Amino acid sequence: MSNDTLISFDNVSISFWQNNMGVHSIKDLITNRKNPFVNKTILKNISFEVKRGECMGILGRNGSGKSTLLRTIAGLIKPQVGKMTINGTFAPILAIGAGLELELSGYENMHLLLSLYGKARKNTNAIQSIIDFSELSDEVLRMPAKRYSSGMLARLAFSISVANDADILIIDEVLAVGDQGFQTKCMEKIYQVKAEGKTILFVSHFPDDVMRLCDTAILLENGTISYRGPSKLVCEQYNNLF
Ligand SMILES: Nc1ncnc2c1ncn2[C@@H]1O[C@H](COP(=O)(O)OP(=O)(O)O)[C@@H](O)[C@H]1O
Ligand SMILES: [Mg+2]
Repeated sequence: MSNDTLISFDNVSISFWQNNMGVHSIKDLITNRKNPFVNKTILKNISFEVKRGECMGILGRNGSGKSTLLRTIAGLIKPQVGKMTINGTFAPILAIGAGLELELSGYENMHLLLSLYGKARKNTNAIQSIIDFSELSDEVLRMPAKRYSSGMLARLAFSISVANDADILIIDEVLAVGDQGFQTKCMEKIYQVKAEGKTILFVSHFPDDVMRLCDTAILLENGTISYRGPSKLVCEQYNNLF
């Protein structure tokens, strides 16, 4: 793997045991004669590389494996087959909907995540930039995150993610739940991060955004990469699915 390659997947497959038969208790398990668990392969033989500074879009229908791919890259899922190599630091993986502690307040989440990702807990610049970017009021930031609307959670998550000066920013459809003002602001921020030479992985259902922002893209269909190449060509293939 060359020095300017940040992410490399070599024939990676991911499978999960799924309980699809409504077995929820030991009694169900005993009275049910068949094994309720099935092993389902979610990602199959995935190979690709992402270079430093590249912005790669990930497109595909619901359930095609996009979030599973991002969670694998972020280290939340370990590939059972194949080899994955990552050469950089991540912004908090909040932007893929993981990482916020719902019992904690907005402020507590900021402190916790900044310290987890190696920024000083009392880094007042980072804290202030999160408050400013999220536009969440002091009252809201004092509330436990479990009382936030999905839009408020997205604001907090995205603002913490970009306050961290990491090499790789991962964005998984978070923009879909924010209001239009916040979506526009997020896209501007993502372009700024890109201009700083950072690497971005961007999942979106809006091919126009992918085409504009991303250099390259992959199209996932049923857990396999059906197309990979310049974002414009991959977006055309995505549009052909519908
Ligand atoms: N932890 C898990 N256990 C079992 N199945 C899972 C798990 N996570 C995802 N899946 C399954 O993997 C498939 C792909 O899901 P996902 O990666 O979320 O798709 P996408 O983000 O493209 O909509 C779905 O069928 C989903 O049910
Ligand atoms: Mg998803």
